[in-house]
Amino acid sequence: MQALKNIWQYEAAAKEALPEDTWAYLFGGADDLRTKKRNSDAFRNYQIRRRVLVDVREVDSRVTLFDRELRSPVILAPVGMQRLFHSDGELATARAANDRDQLMIVSTVSHFHFRDICSQFEKPPWFQLYPTTDRTITSRLVKTAEDLGSRVLMLTVDLPVPGNRESHLSSLMEHIEGGTDMPNVADLADGETVYDPSMTWEMINWLRSQCSMKIVLKGIVTAEDAELAIHYGADGIIVSNHGGRQLESDLASIEALPEVVAAVKGRLPVLIDGGIRRGTDIFKALALGATACCIGRAFCYGLAVGGQAGVTKVLSILDEELLRDMRLAGVTSLKQINANFIRRKPAGDYPQ
Ligand SMILES: Cc1cc2nc3c(=O)[nH]c(=O)nc-3n(C[C@H](O)[C@H](O)[C@H](O)COP(=O)(O)O)c2cc1C
Repeated sequence: MQALKNIWQYEAAAKEALPEDTWAYLFGGADDLRTKKRNSDAFRNYQIRRRVLVDVREVDSRVTLFDRELRSPVILAPVGMQRLFHSDGELATARAANDRDQLMIVSTVSHFHFRDICSQFEKPPWFQLYPTTDRTITSRLVKTAEDLGSRVLMLTVDLPVPGNRESHLSSLMEHIEGGTDMPNVADLADGETVYDPSMTWEMINWLRSQCSMKIVLKGIVTAEDAELAIHYGADGIIVSNHGGRQLESDLASIEALPEVVAAVKGRLPVLIDGGIRRGTDIFKALALGATACCIGRAFCYGLAVGGQAGVTKVLSILDEELLRDMRLAGVTSLKQINANFIRRKPAGDYPQ
């Protein structure tokens, strides 16, 4: 494990470490995986405009999000069923995140109860909500998260129905759709689901009636929906296509980010996830207006390869890459990273 130097090497090692169907669940995406691939590839359409002759001995990657200071803009995205990757699952991820004081977002469909994951933290994580079709259960999920000290509820809005993930082998899909081993929703009756195709923007009002947590919408990719998110009173947005696991031919997250940022005009924090594998990807997202970045598969590769230590290593690799890239680009704090530090490659330019 010591020898692994970057996220791509962790990806290759995780593939070796995991059974075929688990690997398909982790790596896979919708249809032909084009959106999943484009999420990473599209970062190459942007280049960094660096500055020189700046004293970069001290570099600071802290960012403040909803009154909480984070030591890194890298956040662990909600990923369900992490015991598939390591027997300690979300507990190992939580310990790694807590040790590094990095923010974790816990999935509704985690393999450990949210209470047990929270107990690993000094500062409570955020809770990601999949709205079930049983509002009694959804209400309980929200209230439990708030009672456990979570200050932010992240509502996933890009999963009215599951995407066409053909690469997930059928045995695993049965397990997933059967809702087994998901203690947060263990009492969901047969026929009820952890997604709700009837959900509309009214859901934000309903959530407001249930809790006083901040509400962040995960899965916005257009200016129109960013405007509606503000209209309905959301507190934040994550530009995301669920890691290419939902609609094939969706916009790559980094391509969608500029129009969302332009529509939001600084009124809300805009986060992004999808395809982030390098410090330069993080730098580019911040330059295009993101407040912070979430990673999904990358930390799971670490979990699969080395449990808690593997997650710690992946997080430290990305942070070290970002700090080095900041020095090389001539910035000493995240606030300095703005649109002057990036350009979109002209059409017809050769691939890099
Ligand atoms: C194995 C796996 C499970 C996921 N589970 C959830 C989930 O439970 N809830 C959710 O909102 N997003 C889920 N996602 C999407 C991630 O939160 C995130 O949007 C995506 O992984 C980002 O892309 P990346 O993997 O390229 O970093 C999952 C992604 C993966 C790879």
